[in-house]
Amino acid sequence: MPSPDPWRALDRQPNVDRLIAALETRGATPTQARLRRRFLAFVGLRPGDRVVEVGCGTGVVLRDVAARVGRRGAVVGVDASRRVLAAARRLAARNGRPSALALRRADAARLPFAADRFDVALAVTLILHVPDPLRVVGELVRVTRPGGRVGLQDQDFGVVAVTHADRALTDRILAGVARRVYAEPYSGRRLPALLRAAGCIRIRLRTDVYQDTTLEPFTRNFLERRAENAVRFGIVTAAAAQRWLDGFTALVAAGDFVFTMNYYGAVGVKPR
Ligand SMILES: C[S@@+](CC[C@H](N)C(=O)[O-])C[C@H]1O[C@@H](n2cnc3c(N)ncnc32)[C@H](O)[C@@H]1O
Repeated sequence: MPSPDPWRALDRQPNVDRLIAALETRGATPTQARLRRRFLAFVGLRPGDRVVEVGCGTGVVLRDVAARVGRRGAVVGVDASRRVLAAARRLAARNGRPSALALRRADAARLPFAADRFDVALAVTLILHVPDPLRVVGELVRVTRPGGRVGLQDQDFGVVAVTHADRALTDRILAGVARRVYAEPYSGRRLPALLRAAGCIRIRLRTDVYQDTTLEPFTRNFLERRAENAVRFGIVTAAAAQRWLDGFTALVAAGDFVFTMNYYGAVGVKPR
């Protein structure tokens, strides 16, 4: 049976264009942009670095990486989806290329690169979507040079807090959907252990919080997809899901809406 996680096989999804657009919506959300940039600073990207991002999507992270490594650096994006790479190519052309940028179609579990090729390997909101996270992190370590860094960032669906008058319904929808859609919904907190298991040393963790009090388009999208999946998996009726969504609109109107979700960034060094 195919996985219910749409990001595992993006090109086969009926709503592929909506999913691709959602990556850019998330990327453009100011709080998301700040936590992405704090993560890249935490990884310690330097001008001239050769960087690969695996599961690059439309290139939201790649564009920030390119700005950091500059013209002397090199940036390679890898993704399994032909459609998302086509979008990434269009957007890269529109944004100009401050450093050499290449895009490759490949499976994160079998990277088409020689060992030790990059100074830094990254995976941002990829690990929670792959069937064998350790194998993917092992590949990231393999293609990184000794002394280079591997950086992972994931949200953790066990640490989502949102205001709502019906707390029991909220818990049922959020926990129920996360459990059914993702093989490892609590991926974020596991990232340091994955880096260690893959042989990294000097592992550091930085936890960041996405916070929204105005129901940004990214948050709205997140809650609407949760409601949609809750109906699809028979967790709640369509009427209950709609009542749940309406509850957020009322909170925003009253100025009482709060949504937070934790993002975990972990960095390790490949031993020399
Ligand atoms: C949630 S998106 C993250 C995109 C980007 N890193 C960002 O933060 O905007 C996950 C991406 O990983 C890709 N992906 C999922 N499984 C993959 C795999 N096994 N190998 C390569 N890419 C994969 C998907 O096609 C999708 O573009």
